[in-house]
Amino acid sequence: MSDPLLPQEALEWQARAREVADKFIRPVAWKYDRLQQYPWEVQRGLKEYGLFKCFVPKEYGGAGTSVLNLCLVVEELAKACGGMGVGFAVNALGSFPIMVGGTEEQKQRFLPEIAAGNKLVAFGLSERDAGSDAAGMQCSAVRDGDEWVINGHKKWNTNGLVAHVNTIFAVTDKDSRSRRISAFVVERPGNGEELGDIDGFRVVKVEDKLGIRAIPVVEIEFNDLRLPADRLVGGKPGLGFKHAMMTLDKARPGVAAQAVGCAQGALDFALLYATGRVQFGKPISSRQMIQQLLADMAQKVEAARQLVHAAARHVDAETKAANKFAAMAKCFATDVAMEVTTNAVQIFGGYGFMRDYPVEKYMRDAKITQIYEGTNQVQRLVIARNLIKEAAGLDHLRGFIPIPEDQR
Ligand code: CAA
Repeated sequence: MSDPLLPQEALEWQARAREVADKFIRPVAWKYDRLQQYPWEVQRGLKEYGLFKCFVPKEYGGAGTSVLNLCLVVEELAKACGGMGVGFAVNALGSFPIMVGGTEEQKQRFLPEIAAGNKLVAFGLSERDAGSDAAGMQCSAVRDGDEWVINGHKKWNTNGLVAHVNTIFAVTDKDSRSRRISAFVVERPGNGEELGDIDGFRVVKVEDKLGIRAIPVVEIEFNDLRLPADRLVGGKPGLGFKHAMMTLDKARPGVAAQAVGCAQGALDFALLYATGRVQFGKPISSRQMIQQLLADMAQKVEAARQLVHAAARHVDAETKAANKFAAMAKCFATDVAMEVTTNAVQIFGGYGFMRDYPVEKYMRDAKITQIYEGTNQVQRLVIARNLIKEAAGLDHLRGFIPIPEDQR
């Protein structure tokens, strides 16, 4: 059901994404989950319906950056398949560093092709020993004349097997604390399904995953990868960590939307099943214990969705609270997704545990949302840091503490 309180433009994006999900994703979601292969037929549908434009500014061939529209699209796609939801959202994640920090020339060069759906994008921040501690990365970029030479690796690179544009982060000044890291755009030749190789860039592992199996997650090694100087995002070294954090603020509501999609998708099937499954002579939906489960699932999904929309609005308006809201939405919605998808399996009973039925896939797809784009432990850390800063604004309450100051 659509929320009539959303702006007309947002409702149109939502309807368009729902059509894509029904037409292209639902018929093949389980097939690609089993095959663990990138769904090119779905990518063609996303492109045909112009969905890649929803997160790119108008001046670069998009429809205007709107994290709210992006979230609505991602939710609809993830409702049909969590993997395909993130496979789409990662294009925004990998493009955001160019949007937040890129030079005009870089924006002109990369964004129109991304908006047109011709070039897929990936994002390389994590490494084997640098996950939550992103700043602890070791991948290095050294300037050599007109080029940067990259050595090291990137882990958990979603879409890395199929992406033409890979935004990666590397250490350019190992002695600096706050200006240690820079972002680079690594381009591989080709368009759409064509993807050429470049010297010094090698996918060394394709992960075998619990969920989001339609979308490749890979490890990439850089061995003297030479990049022209103009691939340094923003043209100045040292801004990469800030750009990564600003990117994650914009992208985390998208992961939260993916989680809402998984949760709603599982709830829809659980509801359908509960109204049709007869035990003790009546549909199980007539039993109060099942009703309570369904009611709690529905409340939590809606609360998560509203928090995602609020976070997206804060990010779009660039408010001071955007960082906290993005983390809250990501943490809350993904925890809800895990709980709701697990309860959907419970409602299906033994059938829910089987691959013949749809809900176990939602549960598998939901799990990673609590981990990637910052674990939920990192989100709580970000929320708590914001709260502690805000505590200064609560000083006026001290006068209302009943115990006299000298006895506290
Ligand atoms: N916006 C702008 N600047 C920010 C910022 C933000 N939201 N957050 C931090 N910064 C700045 C700080 O102001 C600080 O700047 P100065 O040095 O100039 O003071 C600098 O960045 C360092 O900040 P912190 O001291 O807070 O950094 P930290 O090392 O303590 O790390 C962290 C903070 C929140 C834990 C961060 O490392 C983090 O978010 N970790 C998780 C990483 C992550 O999300 N990885 C996901 C990878 S992507 C992925 O999963 C993709 C996929 O495939 C789907």
